[in-house]
Amino acid sequence: NGRDNTVELLGIDVGGTGTKGALVDSESGQLLTERHRIPTPQPATPEAVGEVVGEIARFFDYSGPIGCAFPARVRKGVARTAANIDDSWIGTDVAGLFRKTTGCPVTVLNDADAAGLAEMAFGEGHDQEGVVLVLTFGTGIGSALFNDGILIPNTELGHLEWRGDIAESYASDRVRKLEELTWEAWAERVQEYLEHVEFILAPDLIILGGGISREHKHMLFLHHLSTQAELTTAALENEAGIIGAAYHARLLAEEG
Ligand code: BGC
Repeated sequence: NGRDNTVELLGIDVGGTGTKGALVDSESGQLLTERHRIPTPQPATPEAVGEVVGEIARFFDYSGPIGCAFPARVRKGVARTAANIDDSWIGTDVAGLFRKTTGCPVTVLNDADAAGLAEMAFGEGHDQEGVVLVLTFGTGIGSALFNDGILIPNTELGHLEWRGDIAESYASDRVRKLEELTWEAWAERVQEYLEHVEFILAPDLIILGGGISREHKHMLFLHHLSTQAELTTAALENEAGIIGAAYHARLLAEEG
């Protein structure tokens, strides 16, 4: 279909509630198609999610490298944790599984790391030196840490211990909805969390992404937050995972 296979890649973002894919121009970071979304099956077992990822590749009639963002620690394609997906993922070769269900070469990375890479390449982090921290607020809280543009992967700052539990059980967007918190009440929790994170890492810039960066929602909470770091919301909004996954696949393909 005339696709330039080295630039126009399929990006897929496996989320706690939805799995989304789109073709991405990995040089400009633009989506080339609408997103195709399929609800993430529950329980989100490897078999069930593998099928959904295969379905997305078939929907786009796609053959070529696929970049996939996945909500867990991922080391060399293998999942090392499982928070908002089924426990049976731990130890699963995610890249190998999706390679089987799509018939394409697949690279996998943590979803927040993918979103962070996209923001650094095409969004708010572009050309930013120093320490940049991207935090994604959705079903969980994801984190991506950069120093002078270099990713330090799998930081999982949503799992910092907090008030006898973990931070994402206190301040994720899912919790805001579940507990029917006002934006202000939720922002107070996020403020506490950000202060804790700043104490540990002293970033120069914090970028807030995930579902809460969509549709001008920042108007509802950003003015309640104050940090020592510069603070902003993600430019690529909720598409950053898809875009970053495709971009990552291209970088690895170029490395050979
Ligand atoms: C997972 C992270 C993920 C984040 C956002 C957390 O529960 O542990 O790996 O990045 O959710 O999806």
